[in-house]
Amino acid sequence: MDNAGGSQVPRQVVERIGEYLTAYNVQLGASYEVSASAGQKLQEVTHRMARFIHASRMEEVVVGPSTTLLLRILSICLSRQWRAGDEVIVTNSDHEANVSCWMDLREKGIVVKIWKLNPDTLEFDLDDLRGLLTERTRLVAMVHASNILGTINPVREVAEVVHAAGALLCVDGVAYAPHRPVDVQAFGADFYVFSTYKVYGPHLSILYGRYELLRELDGINHYFIGKEQVPYKLQPGNFNFELTYGLQGVLDYFEALQAHHAGPVFELIAAHEESLAETLLAYLRTVPEIRIIGRKDSHRDRRVPTISFVHDRYRSSDIATHVDPHRIGIRFGDFYAKKLIQDHGLEAKDGVVRVSLVHYNTLQEVEALIGVFRGMF
Ligand SMILES: Cc1ncc(COP(=O)(O)O)c(C=O)c1O
Repeated sequence: MDNAGGSQVPRQVVERIGEYLTAYNVQLGASYEVSASAGQKLQEVTHRMARFIHASRMEEVVVGPSTTLLLRILSICLSRQWRAGDEVIVTNSDHEANVSCWMDLREKGIVVKIWKLNPDTLEFDLDDLRGLLTERTRLVAMVHASNILGTINPVREVAEVVHAAGALLCVDGVAYAPHRPVDVQAFGADFYVFSTYKVYGPHLSILYGRYELLRELDGINHYFIGKEQVPYKLQPGNFNFELTYGLQGVLDYFEALQAHHAGPVFELIAAHEESLAETLLAYLRTVPEIRIIGRKDSHRDRRVPTISFVHDRYRSSDIATHVDPHRIGIRFGDFYAKKLIQDHGLEAKDGVVRVSLVHYNTLQEVEALIGVFRGMF
């Protein structure tokens, strides 16, 4: 139940990584046959990944070792064309991966503003964003689903507001992608990033960028890797071939799930997750000393089953460590969403207790956790 930290991988992922290492493990770009077929195999994965996230072309898929590093690369490359006095807006709900890299641009004279959650509802107000946007705003960086609150933010509506102001939108989809389909065209964000190790895959990350924007970016690769080399100019060094190939296993897995259940896989996942979330939230709502940090309802359109809370009498660390001996993995802390924890006075509690569920969790598991909570509260 620490899936927002990282998920388990299906057998298909392990097999695909093994297949690459045993059959294609050579350097790319050479004239011999295995090198050419290894390159071909990796192109196929990128094609499939582009289709999976509904990108319009495979060059829009940038592979990197982590979301934190890909966003750092993006911030460096984008800001090369910005001037002192240009502005960026970040939120106080994001993981630091989509905050620090923008904050650090203050060294170059970029002005950074913070779009804050409404402290009563813990939701964003679009009018607050409108009040922060100016003709100097270059980019808004926000999270699709908070890795603490689980709340799904209205990215499409935000994109419209941001684009009307002439700015770009960069969305951290890390806590959203394990739960709902990623459709970058429907979302309307200019950049969208997620970590595949939380989407049942290996430790990699995918950054989507609109092709016209990526093409215009200055790269971060060697001087002879030209601007037109999208996405290679944003992938310095050899990327991890075997893990990239392993991503096929995630796509194989979703296809197998779909075939087995004969239905749209993410609708099934959303329905199951909603019932898991409702079971836990229904219990948490009955305990007067518990404050749910995030939405109290389980509606699949409004939240993912990443559920956080604090207790009046216990520190969050006491609760998580009490659960450990029952061989159920939950977690406490700030989960690097530092500003959310600090701005809402949750540091003194050692952050929140977070139970982060995904589709392979069962109702019985959630009930077992509730049983442990009942014994404590
Ligand atoms: C919402 C969110 N964004 C970004 C990250 C960072 O991802 P990575 O470890 O791939 O840099 C995390 C990791 O926990 C996260 O939960």
